[in-house]
Amino acid sequence: MQIEYITSNNMWKLLYETIRLMDKATAHHGMRVSYIMSKMLECRGLNEKFEIADFMMLAMLHDVGAFKTDDVKKPLTYEAKAPAPHSVYGYLFLKYLSPLSDMSKMILYHHIDYSRTKDIDYQYKDELEILKVAEIIDVWIRAFGDKFSINMLDRYAGTKYQEEACQLLKQADAEFEIVKKIMDRSYIKEVDEAMEYILLSDDEKEKYLKMLMYCTGLKSENMVSETVATMYVCRELGRKLKQSEMDKNEVYYAALLHDIGMLAMPSKLVDAPRSLNQAEKNFIHTHVEIMEKVLEGKISPDIISIASAHHERCDGSGYPRGLKGNAMSDKQAILQIAENVVHMGMEKPYRRAFTKDEIIKDLNDGIVNDKYDGIIADTMVRNYDEIMEKAFARAQNALVTHQKLQSNYEQVYKSFR
Ligand SMILES: [Fe+2]
Ligand SMILES: [Fe+2]
Ligand SMILES: [Fe+2]
Repeated sequence: MQIEYITSNNMWKLLYETIRLMDKATAHHGMRVSYIMSKMLECRGLNEKFEIADFMMLAMLHDVGAFKTDDVKKPLTYEAKAPAPHSVYGYLFLKYLSPLSDMSKMILYHHIDYSRTKDIDYQYKDELEILKVAEIIDVWIRAFGDKFSINMLDRYAGTKYQEEACQLLKQADAEFEIVKKIMDRSYIKEVDEAMEYILLSDDEKEKYLKMLMYCTGLKSENMVSETVATMYVCRELGRKLKQSEMDKNEVYYAALLHDIGMLAMPSKLVDAPRSLNQAEKNFIHTHVEIMEKVLEGKISPDIISIASAHHERCDGSGYPRGLKGNAMSDKQAILQIAENVVHMGMEKPYRRAFTKDEIIKDLNDGIVNDKYDGIIADTMVRNYDEIMEKAFARAQNALVTHQKLQSNYEQVYKSFR
């Protein structure tokens, strides 16, 4: 699949913004560790900028597991007192759901002392030691502020941290003024510049975009299954409507990213076991604008406009803009119908799943009341069984790796401790 909708450089920005939606401090910590690591690698003689970029992406994601296993507002707990859960989950997340699977063990070991990691036979063992030093330096800079001194590392060189990596940090700081730039935030400009050189293949971009969607599973597992099902219902519905390959792809990517704004919503609302009150609903509705802001300027505007209309309805009763039928495209309407059909068919903590008959009735009523695009809703009704069967079979397939992650977690966690 040709994925011309996003550039490599924008992929980095999107990754940062997505993590930022979940927690600002974690995103900034990831960005700083990314920067420190890149300068250490550069100092060590790794001059291929695209290779450094892979490690920067990894460093940006190093604490991603914490969104699942811990309260991210308490980094002291998961970074210092009990680091195993987020290390294991982050490792599996990267192993199964990212293009960085061969580097994922670095995440597993990122809080393990050098005295224990030094004998591990592993392709990226030196880079792992660099990541560990980069990580702790950022933690210390924040904790000690002006009192921070790079010599604090000396006590741990050779035991907690690899001696060469400690040395490398000092060298890199002497050459690039890492600590000063972290403190005055001028490092951000350098990170942006470094990312100009990042070069991702179509396959990697596709995997990263999917990974961003899988981030919604860090908040709520159901969101992943709903999104994946929606993507494939869009595909099958598009096929029935004889959509061009290009249009089908646009709708596919819009479906993939349409609920990414939900990452900014508190879990207690996302999975609330009750209907939400009006104020809460209004708040949840902002997920569409949040998604637009995150994707803006980074991904093709055509895709954003499809995604941003997923809660609009042809009679003007939808949100956020209250668009009416003639203001909407077929591509927007396809995502609306697909998303709604999948949503109704799923069981929610506050209601049972709609039956097929109830869903068909909703679609038919919607055609009569001009709530849905008549042609598209009618195509859905006439081909309901075929579309749903094919879409769910494909979604099931796509979700296998995601489920593997969940089922492997306990096992890996036990053997890791
Ligand atoms: Fe960290
Ligand atoms: Fe960590
Ligand atoms: Fe939504």
